[in-house]
Amino acid sequence: MKREAGALLSSIQLDRTSRKSISVQLYMGLRDILLSGWLKPGDRLPASRTMAREAGVSRTTVIDAVDRLISEGMLTARVGAGTYVSKNLVLQKPQSTPVSATAEAASQPRLSYTVSHASGAYAPRARLPHNSQAFISALPALDAFPLAQWARISARHLRGDREDVMGYGPPEGHPALRHAIATHLATARGITCKPEQVFVTSGAQQAFSLIGQLFLDAGDRVWFENPGAKGARNAFVATGAELIPIPVDEEGMRVVDAVEKAPHFRLAFVTPSHQQPLGHVMSLARRFELLEAAAEARALIVEDDYDGEFYFGTRPQPALKSIDTHGRVLYVGTFSKSLFPSLRLGFVMVPERMIDTFERVFSSWISGPPTATQATVSDFMDEGHFSTHIRMMRRLYKARYDALMSAAGTLPETIRLQETSSGFHTPAYLDDRVDEQALVEQARAKNVTVAPLSQYCLAPIARKGLVIGFGSTMPDDIKKGIDVIGSLPALKV
Ligand SMILES: Cc1ncc(COP(=O)(O)O)c(C=O)c1O
Repeated sequence: MKREAGALLSSIQLDRTSRKSISVQLYMGLRDILLSGWLKPGDRLPASRTMAREAGVSRTTVIDAVDRLISEGMLTARVGAGTYVSKNLVLQKPQSTPVSATAEAASQPRLSYTVSHASGAYAPRARLPHNSQAFISALPALDAFPLAQWARISARHLRGDREDVMGYGPPEGHPALRHAIATHLATARGITCKPEQVFVTSGAQQAFSLIGQLFLDAGDRVWFENPGAKGARNAFVATGAELIPIPVDEEGMRVVDAVEKAPHFRLAFVTPSHQQPLGHVMSLARRFELLEAAAEARALIVEDDYDGEFYFGTRPQPALKSIDTHGRVLYVGTFSKSLFPSLRLGFVMVPERMIDTFERVFSSWISGPPTATQATVSDFMDEGHFSTHIRMMRRLYKARYDALMSAAGTLPETIRLQETSSGFHTPAYLDDRVDEQALVEQARAKNVTVAPLSQYCLAPIARKGLVIGFGSTMPDDIKKGIDVIGSLPALKV
């Protein structure tokens, strides 16, 4: 090894504030050097004492890192002679064979007929958001979540019986969580059900995909709100079903239009508590029309109640499911808004007559989310933290909404925010002359995220607009974000 230890170690950045130990960081840095080919098989490493001095770490730290690489076969130690780059290193390197563009195209896997034909109808969906920038619409108030309490309950479960924590859990969901969800649905959403009707999923998204796989064949007709939810749309499109865009107005899905367009439908997807993305609450008259139409066509209804807990006006109507006397509604819920989205926890509550079908499916090809996570959520609910959190979030979202509406007073007349009394996003309608896409791009260039209404549309609609999320944004940032939007050239028409 002819190179100096200093040169060898200079490319390794050690971060003393990181949660990774220094020895792990050193091990990872040395491993990258070995895999990059900077050192050749047979090269000798500097003595551990020299490396420790150059890296400014203890000799034990170096020995620890080197020992890991020896145990992985990347280095070999010869007693009394030092440590060498292993002769086998070349076998461990990932091989990258250059592939020509045509060969690469030819080697693409053939997509299924359904997916390749459906792909044009998928909703464009950027990566779901991670950080709480103004005006992201899918995130709850991450800053206000009681993480310490959560960590305490979670630690209690991780310290529990090993088999409970680590073995496969019941596929249809942890019994305590199914019970806690059924209790919550009864008290908060007016739905009476047995715990056996509740099936726990990896987020609402898995519930949509599963419902699509179970009940839709290619060509089946699905009534879908237009504009409507992107994730559910993509899940149903993937089945090869034909999605029929149904207009929505202040009363929700226009059932009369739907019957006229596609009287023989297999499934209808609705967000009655808070239409995604326009925010309307479905009227009672429309709810009955929809239930009747589904009974007539022997169709199913998927009710997506993604943020029904968060209202800040009067108590909202109970869920559509609560008046489903024909047993046609599959009610889908999520913990992504009421707790946080990385949990990947949701559920589908099914009519009693479908319990057997769902049990069969869950036991044959579904394994639920981690048991400890489900147990943590059920304790969080049973011990009252969940309802306390929801109550606090209602107040917080109201404060953020008020901050949004008061800041919006300064906006030009070419943009108008719609009032809402629930959830944590609301549409802003644009003057016809405003270029929706240009506005979105100008906002993005100034670190403000707004989603164009057209992104939610299966078929073009007459109105232009943006979806403005306010739940995860602090009032000061809400004000700054509105000032940015107000200054954008696209609004000056
Ligand atoms: C309409 C709608 N339903 C459900 C969800 C939640 O999906 P998941 O539970 O898979 O995170 C979202 C997330 O943003 C949504 O917008």
